[in-house]
Amino acid sequence: MSENVSVSGGSSSERRFTGVHMDELNGGASIPVQDIEDIVQARQKGRFLAQELNFSPTQSTLVATVISELARNIILYAGNGFITLTRGKSEAGRGGLQIVASDNGPGIEDIARALISGYSSSGGLGLGLPGVRQLADEFHIESAVGHGTTVTVLMFG
Ligand SMILES: Nc1ncnc2c1ncn2[C@@H]1O[C@H](COP(=O)(O)OP(=O)(O)OP(=O)(O)O)[C@@H](O)[C@H]1O
Ligand SMILES: [Mg+2]
Repeated sequence: MSENVSVSGGSSSERRFTGVHMDELNGGASIPVQDIEDIVQARQKGRFLAQELNFSPTQSTLVATVISELARNIILYAGNGFITLTRGKSEAGRGGLQIVASDNGPGIEDIARALISGYSSSGGLGLGLPGVRQLADEFHIESAVGHGTTVTVLMFG
């Protein structure tokens, strides 16, 4: 069974990427994630890229928060995976950051339920994915049971 959900996490359409044009991996990074140290690495790289893109200090911290939550989920539910950080540009030339968290773990049976604040299959707070969705300018999640999960987030500064 597989299910896909695509939703926008941004509150303002002005903040959306429209026709995203990705830079080459120039300055981007694909970070393997399997332990806590990797979360620290991914967070630092994300913060660095956000600062390079002239994100505000607050927004750079939010980027690090998003990366943390997605990386924690990878470790907890899938064991390992990747966080890929890429610079993106809107058509208007506005610089943004794309964060992709991917794993080949067990997948999510009910994506809508996983996005509800307070739902957790592990006794957690169940705030990770809904929080990421709220912080994202664009949010997309794709998951197939037995195959894995990919969460894609776009953020502007
Ligand atoms: N990469 C993943 N692979 C499989 N299931 C996942 C993955 N990420 C999230 N989930 C499922 O979605 C649920 C909700 O995730 P979310 O991050 O919102 O909460 P949590 O991890 O349970 O708790 P918290 O993040 O607040 O500590 C998880 O409990 C888990 O069932
Ligand atoms: Mg979580």
